[in-house]
Amino acid sequence: MGWSLQATQSLSALQFEQWNGLLEERTGMHFRQVQQSHLQAQLLMRMRELNCNSFDEYYQIVRAADAEEWGVFVSRITVNETRFFRHIESFDFVRRTIVEKYEKTSASLNVWSVGCATGEEPYSLAMLFEEAAELHGGDLSYTIDATDISAEAIALAKLGEYPGSAFAEVKPALREKYFQTHGGRLKVTDAVKRHIRFHCENILDLAHKPIEKMDIIFCQNLLIYFQEWRKKSILDALVKQLKPGGILIIGPGEVMTWKNIFLTPCREIGVQAYQRIQTT
Ligand SMILES: C[S@@+](CC[C@H](N)C(=O)[O-])C[C@H]1O[C@@H](n2cnc3c(N)ncnc32)[C@H](O)[C@@H]1O
Repeated sequence: MGWSLQATQSLSALQFEQWNGLLEERTGMHFRQVQQSHLQAQLLMRMRELNCNSFDEYYQIVRAADAEEWGVFVSRITVNETRFFRHIESFDFVRRTIVEKYEKTSASLNVWSVGCATGEEPYSLAMLFEEAAELHGGDLSYTIDATDISAEAIALAKLGEYPGSAFAEVKPALREKYFQTHGGRLKVTDAVKRHIRFHCENILDLAHKPIEKMDIIFCQNLLIYFQEWRKKSILDALVKQLKPGGILIIGPGEVMTWKNIFLTPCREIGVQAYQRIQTT
C-alpha cells in the first residue's frame, strides 16, 4: 500500500483505544477523544517515514519488547511546548524561598525539573539561582536534575541553543548575561549549564528509584496529560523525594483534590506549592 492510501487512513475507535492503552500503561499519558487527530497525524507521519502500511503493523513494531522505535514514537507523541520563565509567579515564589534559605545556610540545593522538555524551565531556574547568588555576593551551590521522557527533547535541552524569538519574555539583561550568540541562535553559557544534569527518564520509573532527596521539585504542565488517579500517585511518589522543608511546585489548578499528610500547602496567591513537614 502506498503513502497516498496511508494518508487517508483513520484510527478506528478500537485502534485509538489500543494506542491509548499502550501509551497510558508505559508513560501515564492519556489522550482524550479530542486529541485523537494529534495521535493519528503523528502516527501517519512516522509510518510514512518507515514505509509502514497500517496502524496495526506499526503498533506491533512499537510495542515489541525493547523496541528502539518506542523511543522515537514517544518523542513524536509528547507535547514539548515550553518557554523560559513560564508561569512567572512560580519562579518568583522559588526566588523568595531560595533567597530566604540562602541567607540561613550554605548547604547545596538539590532541585528537580520534572518534564523539562527542551530545557527552558531548568535554564530559567539556573538563571534565577545565579541572580540570587550575585545579589547576596557569593556562590549558591545547587544542582538541577532535569528529566523528560522524550529523548529528542533532552538532546535539544543539552544543546541549549534557542532562536532569538524564544527570549520574548526574558529580561534582556538576563539574555545577555547567560547566553552567547552562536550561528544566529543563542546558546546558554557554561556558567549556567554546568549546574544542570539532563536525563531521559520516565517519571513512572523514576518515582520508584532511589534518588537524592530534593529541596525543590518543579513539576509543571506534565500532569495535565494524566488521569486524576495517576496524577495523585505521581505526586505522592514525588513527596517521598522531598527533604523535610522541601518544596513541591506544580502548575496552578493541575490537581484540585489531592492531599498528602506530609505536606502543608504554601499560602501563595496564584501559585500551587506545598512544603514537606515531616519525615516518613
Ligand atoms: C508541556 S511539556 C512541559 C514543559 C515544562 N515543564 C513547562 O511547564 O514548560 C510536558 C513534558 O512532559 C513530558 N512527559 C510526558 N510524560 C512523561 C513521563 N511519563 N515521564 C517524563 N516526562 C514526561 C513530555 O515529554 C513533555 O516534554
